[in-house]
Amino acid sequence: MKKVYLETFGCQMNVSDSERVATSLELKGFAITSDEKAADVVLFNTCSVREKAEHKLYARVGRLRKSRTKMPVVGIMGCVAQLEGETLFKKISGVDFVIGTKAVSRVSDAIGKVLDGKQFVADLGDRELNYDWNVAASQRHSPYVAFIPIIEGCNKFCTYCIVPFSRGREVSLTASEIIRQVLRLRREGVKEIHLIGQNVNSYRPKNQSGLGAFKGATPFAKLLRAVAATGIERIKFNTSFPRDFHADIVEAINENENLCNWVHLPVQSGSDRVLKAMRRGHTIASYMKMIDNLKASKREISLTTDIIVGFPGETAEDFEETVKAVEYCEYDAAYIFKYSPRPGTPAFNMTDSVSADEKTERFSRLEAVQKNSQNKTLQRYLGQTLKVLPEKESANYSNQLSSHSTCHKVVNFEASADMLGNVVDVRISDVKANSLFGVMV
Ligand code: 5AD
Ligand code: SF4
Repeated sequence: MKKVYLETFGCQMNVSDSERVATSLELKGFAITSDEKAADVVLFNTCSVREKAEHKLYARVGRLRKSRTKMPVVGIMGCVAQLEGETLFKKISGVDFVIGTKAVSRVSDAIGKVLDGKQFVADLGDRELNYDWNVAASQRHSPYVAFIPIIEGCNKFCTYCIVPFSRGREVSLTASEIIRQVLRLRREGVKEIHLIGQNVNSYRPKNQSGLGAFKGATPFAKLLRAVAATGIERIKFNTSFPRDFHADIVEAINENENLCNWVHLPVQSGSDRVLKAMRRGHTIASYMKMIDNLKASKREISLTTDIIVGFPGETAEDFEETVKAVEYCEYDAAYIFKYSPRPGTPAFNMTDSVSADEKTERFSRLEAVQKNSQNKTLQRYLGQTLKVLPEKESANYSNQLSSHSTCHKVVNFEASADMLGNVVDVRISDVKANSLFGVMV
């Protein structure tokens, strides 16, 4: 039996793709191993969202080459594979096969061809109509938490972003397929599901049957209510696209306890001028209105975001607008990135006018502003009792478990490992920089 080692970079969609690839490889008679050295096949699932992510891959294959006297079969899948295709064979020596983002079910065919002696196998073809979305319980990243893609690809073409090119146009899964998966996961003991997609709230299946019975102006809000009605314990969803973030989503959260009180809503910039150049489709005023609505909602909803600093043409004044927006929104967490030009995107042809030093400066300044704001914002959890799902033992303290709250905070607390996978109440007694600490009640 051939052993496959699979390593994943990038976002949750990649993690989810890897879970399905591992599932189908096992069904086809391969063994999935966590021991890279013992593997006959090493497969990298790659990300190209920023240049750094792509460089990681080149360095990684280089390390693999050095560590082996006899090279295993090497395959590249994911976003870099889709974008580079066969040129990867020239760019990275030792690569045997390349699998595009829609060809993930055919990894075993590619491996078979390479084992039969064929060189440089590339499959950038489409997904088959009867594609199997199931993930075997043994291949999930967690026994208690599962990812369910509800929409793939992206139609938004934000000018900095490679995703529309690496993952194609938006395709929504049918509601019946999603519900079937939720019910199966629930039966298997999964406590928390994440409905994932580049823009989940742009969810728009071709056939909306099954959603008609549910309240909501948009198909996404109806889907949230349909998923809530399955009775699964906790439902999270990300990422949300601001322009499509309608009030019916907040209403659904308010009316269904199992829809978790956390929204990830990337603002990207606080300057209307930059937002326009990014082609985000929202203004800072329309975004803040959404935030006001979220903050005024009946349930306390935690809010996180993504921000890019140093977009082409971003002036010191534009950046100050971003600082102001971060101070206004009081995010529970913000993921800040330095702009990275991606070949093929519209912004790639704009002059990358902000120097590397200035990007670093803005990055550090914004990080400090967010840290300061976050310190204050998170104090509101002190003394609150949160429902948490313990997912693993703490890496640092053997008597502690690491969990997530419904508001998606990391919460550590003292308990024995037999509590793993059981939702418990924890009273928060300490607020750390990026996590909370509490006592089980
Ligand atoms: N440069 C820097 N950050 C980027 N992101 C997407 N594309 C780029 C880029 N070219 C960030 C955005 C997005 C997150 C996943 O990555 O903030 O929301
Ligand atoms: Fe990276 Fe974006 Fe591809 Fe996810 S979709 S792997 S974040 S480039």
